[in-house]
Amino acid sequence: MSEQTVDDIDLSVVDQMIERYGTTTDAAIPILLGLQETYGYLPFKALQHVTEKTEATPNQVYGVATFYGQFRMKPVGRHIVRVCHGTACHVRGAVGIDETLMEVMGLAGGEDTTADMEYTVEKVACLGCCSLSPVIMVDDKVYGKLTRQKVRKIFQQYAREEVEQ
Ligand code: FES
Repeated sequence: MSEQTVDDIDLSVVDQMIERYGTTTDAAIPILLGLQETYGYLPFKALQHVTEKTEATPNQVYGVATFYGQFRMKPVGRHIVRVCHGTACHVRGAVGIDETLMEVMGLAGGEDTTADMEYTVEKVACLGCCSLSPVIMVDDKVYGKLTRQKVRKIFQQYAREEVEQ
């Protein structure tokens, strides 16, 4: 938690979640899910507020926030790029796809979000469409049977669409 910055957020949104789901310890998960849906991640200030306004202790709230893989503790890019590293994708070149993505995004080792906050890259185990391997998913859209070249083209297309908007 030490790397987390204090986020500038409107705490009335957090209060609305608490009002909707209640103040018992059990309400922590739906409240955190609601916060993540609103912000794309769990702002530190929001978690603090939840511990102050509900019966859940800081340990319980941070325990839930860090235990479940779907919760994010850092701001994410506008697009979430999921790179499959499941067995089928791994066998068909997921590592090369991942390397190309990092290169295209300008991400160095350990970084997952582009400096312009356009993309966050996540590694996932299986996207459930192994026959299309290797596969990535950009937001809700699946791209399969990828090559390094196809990956470059996909993100050139995204960049063009950004310019046109
Ligand atoms: S292993 Fe990649 S989609 Fe299943």
